[in-house]
Amino acid sequence: MAKIFAVCMNKGGVGKTSLVTHLAAAASSLFPDKKTLIIDTDAQGNAAVVFGSDPDKSKLTMYDVFTGAKSIKDILISIKSNLDLAPASDKFNMLEFHILSQLESYPSPFLLLKKEVDQIKSDYDYIFIDCPPSLGLIAGNALKAATDVLIPFVPEAFSVKGLQRVIQTIEAFGSKEEPSPRITGIIAMMVDGRSKLHQELVGHAREFCSKKDIRLFETVIPRSISFANAAAYEGSPLVWTDRSNPAAEAYYTLAKEVFEYATKKKRTARKL
Ligand SMILES: Nc1ncnc2c1ncn2[C@@H]1O[C@H](COP(=O)(O)OP(=O)(O)OP(=O)(O)O)[C@@H](O)[C@H]1O
Ligand SMILES: [Mg+2]
Repeated sequence: MAKIFAVCMNKGGVGKTSLVTHLAAAASSLFPDKKTLIIDTDAQGNAAVVFGSDPDKSKLTMYDVFTGAKSIKDILISIKSNLDLAPASDKFNMLEFHILSQLESYPSPFLLLKKEVDQIKSDYDYIFIDCPPSLGLIAGNALKAATDVLIPFVPEAFSVKGLQRVIQTIEAFGSKEEPSPRITGIIAMMVDGRSKLHQELVGHAREFCSKKDIRLFETVIPRSISFANAAAYEGSPLVWTDRSNPAAEAYYTLAKEVFEYATKKKRTARKL
């Protein structure tokens, strides 16, 4: 059964899409026998951009899946033999309005994605869902469909407070019958190893996470211009274009750490 990771944070530009695409690309290289799927649920459609594809050229997207016009199998793009992408596009900007204004046609608005993912999850080993930068209807759908949540943490002023808030919101989203997916872990992103402030903030986040029994992964992703360069000039993620780049190596190490931990860890009740 697939591990289904929702990558969530109600803040823009914290590396959600980078995390999804690089972990998925690293998984597809590390484990040639395993199949990985990326589901993009953000109107920017950036997951496709990382792989050199123009999201606005996709005729069928996750919009058609959410609205029930197509099944997820109909819209898949093959990136390589063991990696597929379900793209999004700017039509997604209208999705929430469309669904919320026609609730009589969508009696379970938070289960639209889960219904589709349930149909295909046995075809994959890893599924990554890239969420938009807000916790609304779309991120709620991702949380209902997922087995695991990964949260990117960029060390900035007030970001530990932001982390605390997003964890509380995700935990509160579940119900007795349908608990929230477990928060598998927090990933420190865009960390400048030479910055004392970054070291301190990652330390505070580590302390906070350990009190809540949530893993902050040992591997941190360094700040590096190479990520943007690979996407812009090569149309391919850094983990494929320059495997020995220290920033790419960090993703390979992180991928191994995340998959090992996600497979081992059982759901445990946490006190917030
Ligand atoms: N480790 C890194 N070091 C430096 N820049 C990075 C790193 N990872 C990602 N970036 C850059 O940061 C920017 C934001 O990253 P990304 O698009 O992954 O964030 P996001 O959380 O998905 O944003 P949004 O909320 O807008 O969807 C991009 O320009 C990306 O190339
Ligand atoms: Mg994004």
